[in-house]
Amino acid sequence: MVTHCLRFRALSGVAARGLVAQPRCEPRVVLGIESSCDDTGAAVVDETGRILGEALYSQKETHLKAGGIIPPVAQRLHKEHIERVVQEAVDNSGVSPCELTAIATTVKPGLALSLGVGLEYSLKLIQQYKKPFIPIHHMEAHALTIRMLHFVEFPFLVLLVSGGHSLLAVARGVSDFLLLGQTLDEAPGDTLDKVARRLSLRNHPACSTMSGGEAIEYLAKMGNRLHVQLTQPMAQHLDCDFSFTGLRNQVNQIIIKKEREEGLQEGQMLSCVNDIAAAVQHTVAAHLAKRTHRAILFCKKEGLLPQKNPILVVSGGVACNEYIRKALRIIAEANGVSLHCPPPKLCTDNGIMIAWNGIERLRAGIDVLHNPKAIRYEPKAPLGIDFSEQVKKAALSVPYLKLKI
Ligand code: KG4
Ligand code: ZN
Repeated sequence: MVTHCLRFRALSGVAARGLVAQPRCEPRVVLGIESSCDDTGAAVVDETGRILGEALYSQKETHLKAGGIIPPVAQRLHKEHIERVVQEAVDNSGVSPCELTAIATTVKPGLALSLGVGLEYSLKLIQQYKKPFIPIHHMEAHALTIRMLHFVEFPFLVLLVSGGHSLLAVARGVSDFLLLGQTLDEAPGDTLDKVARRLSLRNHPACSTMSGGEAIEYLAKMGNRLHVQLTQPMAQHLDCDFSFTGLRNQVNQIIIKKEREEGLQEGQMLSCVNDIAAAVQHTVAAHLAKRTHRAILFCKKEGLLPQKNPILVVSGGVACNEYIRKALRIIAEANGVSLHCPPPKLCTDNGIMIAWNGIERLRAGIDVLHNPKAIRYEPKAPLGIDFSEQVKKAALSVPYLKLKI
């Protein structure tokens, strides 16, 4: 490993040095770049799972002010920050770009304009430094992060819940997933963000810089969920799919009614805001727990998980939520399954998970491209083989489990 750190921007003259062969004993090192939504992330990770350098620029504040992500704004901010973020990650790592084994970048799924910035910048880098390119599926990266931190062998069950996704899958290999169910409408993080916006939580003194999900979790701690009646989504559907728009509509109706009762305009803080937050959070947690419970039963019935020490992995931004983690832990423990969640920093979008996914693909020899000219980003990209029809057919009912959280 080099002891000096070369500035990343001033590298044109250094490229030639990249041709010097890497000593075999050095672990392989990947630069990961993430720009699929509203976070610009980069990291350098080696194959032992050591994070050598990292940097992240979050657009959260801008989008909170605007009341949601506006794709051209996200694109502009990625463009403004990507070079600095990548440079910072590489500088911190003490690894010169010529020593990288490969560059891995999210190319699917995500916002087209955001994905485009990361891909274009990465293609420039790989051309400059003559490095192989590893295209990354954002959800695969969320699913595999845990393997950088713990000894988690395939196959395992994974629940991925974020602002853009909600899915249950069996991870059978680095790039081998069986999709058991996914959201039919919006993702739970999106629902929490929209409810938080409708409640104008940005005007709440304690929540002004929090994402919607964080704000709901914070207020829910002080609320009583039993004061607000909400019905469970999809209770009659014996599958592993999710739905959140019905819940959001229910909550909107309740907010309108309470505003009328309290003589408030939209934008003014309801006295029962904590109770609403607690009820929404509980209903989301119970819905996720129920579908995950069914997925565990289905996997057991079909022999999709090891009999000894089966594992459930939960990740994505919504997995930062302690209440939701507790609900899932109750389900997992009742079924003899151990629950693994990355720390919050690695649940939300970041460059580390992309670099690690690059390492996983490098080790498995999957999609390490030496001529990536034809590579395109894909805003929509399913994860794995769709197995949801088989789950529906099995129509497994789930025994009642009290979620005492
Ligand atoms: O994975 P992520 O960073 O980006 C996407 O790929 O979507 O997830 C962001 C989402 C946002 O919707 C945010 O409200 C939610 O994760 N989130 C939370 C919490 N922290 C972030 N949801 C519930 N509880 C939290 N503590
Ligand atoms: Zn994500």
